[in-house]
Amino acid sequence: MSETERKKVILSGIQPTGVFTLGNYVGAIRNWGALQEEFDCIYFIADQHAITVRKDPASFRKQTIESYALTLACGIDPKRSIAFIQSHNPNHAQLSWVLGCVTQFGELSRMTQFKDKAAKHADDINAGLFTYPVLMAADILTYNADVVPIGDDQRQHLELARNIAVRFNQRYGEMFTVPEGYYPKVGARIKSLQEPTKKMSKSDDNPNATVFILDDKDTIMRKFKRAVTDSDTEIRFAEGKDGINNLLTIYSCATGKTIAEAEKEFAGKGYGDFKLAVGEAVADYLEPVRTEYARLMDDKAYLKECWTDGAQRAFRLSNKVLTKAYRKIGFVDYR
Ligand code: TYM
Repeated sequence: MSETERKKVILSGIQPTGVFTLGNYVGAIRNWGALQEEFDCIYFIADQHAITVRKDPASFRKQTIESYALTLACGIDPKRSIAFIQSHNPNHAQLSWVLGCVTQFGELSRMTQFKDKAAKHADDINAGLFTYPVLMAADILTYNADVVPIGDDQRQHLELARNIAVRFNQRYGEMFTVPEGYYPKVGARIKSLQEPTKKMSKSDDNPNATVFILDDKDTIMRKFKRAVTDSDTEIRFAEGKDGINNLLTIYSCATGKTIAEAEKEFAGKGYGDFKLAVGEAVADYLEPVRTEYARLMDDKAYLKECWTDGAQRAFRLSNKVLTKAYRKIGFVDYR
């Protein structure tokens, strides 16, 4: 790479709304770690996004710290990457205001996640819930990120961020990089173990639907034993076999084998044996995360040092972009 060429900037975030799920891990965070090898990476805990749903302050603060530790436990190296907590860098919220003024009400009304969340929290459809995708666009654009590793459910939000970037550039002159989404080939949409047509989610009411990355082996095995399959007997990836397709996908992600290899391995075997094998593979896959998380949570001073350093580096980078955007729109310079 020549002096003038810059490394691609990768950026992603996750909400601190409880322990991450197997879906978060497979769909997004495991890629975050892998991308650090080659790129300049920026990862953060999206605590400002999380308050769009009402929270108890004490447990929210605790969950944010736990989520930060989990991110490191999942392989994010805070020296090599920038790893911080969103609210520690005010530039996201500042740019968000500007971007909100180039975003249409109609665009935000079409966001499916807004419609789902508004239905789920009908007693608190706050303005933050509505403008959430603008903040997400600001998260990305304030670093001029090139690539955003996310699961499928964030695709519509990323499209909006791209549209906002293009619109701003057209209106005020070249400013923002138009970001690309980066979706895993396998695992971009891990499904609930109980209703395999729905995505696996942190907030599912059924405790057997979601595998959390800190679940112990017995819990993981129990959840997979109870996983919903179908009335067929064949272990193959096919239309209409949502439960089996999901388990094959999870097995493939946990072992690194392809779906075809997994189908071959389990040809002629029963669903019961298959579910146990998937459970074992997932427990082995997540074990190092559990161990590292426990180690990190014993060293809060180190965690604080990491997030403070991350916020300072994030602020410096994003401030250059924000200052330039302010000039473009015609705010008066005062520095
Ligand atoms: P969040 O916290 O809901 O989820 C974090 C990441 O996990 C992915 N994910 C899944 N992937 C596969 N299967 C699933 N069942 C599954 N469930 C979740 C999500 O797609 C996501 O990549 N708005 C974002 C956080 C955010 C962000 C950003 C992301 C805020 N600003 C800027 C990228 C860039 C969110 O709520 O993710």
